[in-house]
Formats: sequence, C-alpha cells, structure tokens
Amino acid sequence: MYMKCLAIQSSPNLNGLTSSLAQAVLNGVKTEGGVTELIHLNKFNVKPCIACENGWGLCREKNRCVQDDDFEAIRKQITDADVVVFATPVYWHDLSESAKRFLDRLRRCESFAFKTFTGKKIIGITSAGGSGRGAVRALYNLEEYLRRLGFEIFDLISVTRFSKDHKLSMLEEAGRRLVRE
Ligand SMILES: Cc1cc2nc3c(=O)[nH]c(=O)nc-3n(C[C@H](O)[C@H](O)[C@H](O)COP(=O)(O)O)c2cc1C
Repeated sequence: MYMKCLAIQSSPNLNGLTSSLAQAVLNGVKTEGGVTELIHLNKFNVKPCIACENGWGLCREKNRCVQDDDFEAIRKQITDADVVVFATPVYWHDLSESAKRFLDRLRRCESFAFKTFTGKKIIGITSAGGSGRGAVRALYNLEEYLRRLGFEIFDLISVTRFSKDHKLSMLEEAGRRLVRE
C-alpha cells in the first residue's frame, strides 16, 4: 500500500503562498512514491460550530456533527490519510477564518473518546506573506489545535515572504522524510 498524504490549505488564493507551501511538502511525498491529495478548505461549506446541547456538543456521544455540510467528508479524508499537512495564511497574527472554523469543529468532535488521529503525523505551517508579524503567534495557536486533536507533530514551520525561498526546499525534504520515516 502507498503512503497517503493529505494536505489542507486555508487560503482563498488557490495558487498563493500558503498553497505553494503545502504543495512543496506534497512534491516531496510524491518523489518518494507517496500518494497525495490537496484540499482547498475555502472551496467547501464548513459552518461554524453551534456548541449544541449544553455546550459539550452531541458529537461527544455520536462521533458525528449534527450539522449538514462538508465537514464530515473532510474529517473522513483526514482519518483515511496516513500523514497530514495543515497550512494556513496568517491573518491578524492568527489562523485564517476558514482554518479556525474547521479546526473548532474538529476539536469538538475529536477531543473526547475517539482518538482517531493518535499517532498520525502532521506538519503545521503558517504563512505570513505581509510584514511577517504574527507568524510564530499563529503557529503557536495552530499547535494548540493540533496537539488537542492528538496528532503526532512531525514539524511546525512558520514561513514569511523573506524566508520562503529556503523554506520551500526544506518543506520538500520534510515531505520526503514523512514517507521514509
Ligand atoms: C486580513 C488579512 C490579515 C493579514 N494579516 C497578516 C499578518 O498579521 N501578518 C503578516 O505577515 N501578513 C498578514 N497578511 C498577509 C497574509 O499573511 C498573506 O497574504 C499570506 O501569505 C497569504 O498568502 P496566500 O493567500 O498567497 O496564501 C494578512 C492578509 C490579510 C488578507
């Protein structure tokens, strides 16, 4: 069986910086014979969490969100992948709105008994294409989500427009290592 790597990127610019960083990892995965998939999160309908029931959410018992949108399908794609990349642009020193919306839902559904992602390797990437400010703060916030979700953090990488040229090749190498290790 081939190793499958799913990358999720949460910028509306399908060919922008964030997307190119996710693609760099996938290119590395491909050179080692892995199978890749890229999700542009903003193309999907993912509603905000409604904190149903008493606030803990029905997903805690049912392992399924009560809302009808694209969330569960993307969640399944993560479950089916061997390794994952999550890349977000930095907006206001934080994750993008679509990233926060999706990760809030995922945290709700995954934080309790299910442990679906335990031991699944992930690379978290923040892409700060403006001044570069907030790249690390956003990465800190992304780490909180990813650890809460139970992923095994393979790397956390902040990129600015000043560092992108050397980080692109580093990300490709990270992709190769994801397959090898
Ligand atoms: C609403 C908004 C807020 C932003 N805030 C920051 C910021 O805090 N720091 C920064 O370096 N860049 C900031 N940027 C620039 C984005 O990080 C930059 O556009 C990012 O690289 C996204 O690239 P991409 O859309 O090409 O993937 C902001 C952009 C927008 C649209």
